[in-house]
Amino acid sequence: MNFIFKDLPSLDQTVLDKIIELDQTFFPYPWKQTHWNERTDSFSLVYDGNLDRFALFELGDDRVALLHKILVHPKQRGQKKAQELWEFAQTELKRREVISVLLEVSEDNQQAISFYVRQGFQPLNKIKSYYSDGKSALRMQLFLNDALG
Ligand SMILES: CC(C)(COP(=O)(O)OP(=O)(O)OC[C@H]1O[C@@H](n2cnc3c(N)ncnc32)[C@H](O)[C@@H]1OP(=O)(O)O)[C@@H](O)C(=O)NCCC(=O)NCCS
Repeated sequence: MNFIFKDLPSLDQTVLDKIIELDQTFFPYPWKQTHWNERTDSFSLVYDGNLDRFALFELGDDRVALLHKILVHPKQRGQKKAQELWEFAQTELKRREVISVLLEVSEDNQQAISFYVRQGFQPLNKIKSYYSDGKSALRMQLFLNDALG
């Protein structure tokens, strides 16, 4: 594995294109191309050099990171690949003095919820009709100082 942590605006276009393709092919609620192209300054991407897994964070001034997306290619799932990526990301977030990570996940995405619980995330609250198809989201939080590693 060869993990890389990069701010979105400085990401190579060919890498970004591949990440967008993964998102649009395999993510439950993919972003439109225009959303990616905004390349918001505060967004950072963690990815494997093989481009088969990534996580997208938004780092705020309040030392809270929002985890917008984490994805492993379907052929690679069930082998703790997301956990390897998460461990690397967590180390980088701590280096940037992030103290907690927040996320929203569809309440029927059991694979993702069980992954987050295993990493130490705790449920905060439910947000009704959060997604475009009317599904509700579960908001979860992790304090990095409490996390293992
Ligand atoms: C959530 C996700 C990143 C987890 O990645 P992963 O590398 O498969 O994670 P893990 O290997 O830790 O295991 C996932 C679970 O599925 C089980 N599993 C076993 N074989 C599997 C397979 N072939 N495919 C998928 N999951 C499998 C694992 O045993 C594990 O179950 P458990 O939590 O009860 O132990 C991945 O499922 C994914 O990319 N999902 C689509 C994107 C998404 O929904 N992201 C989260 C919202 S932001």
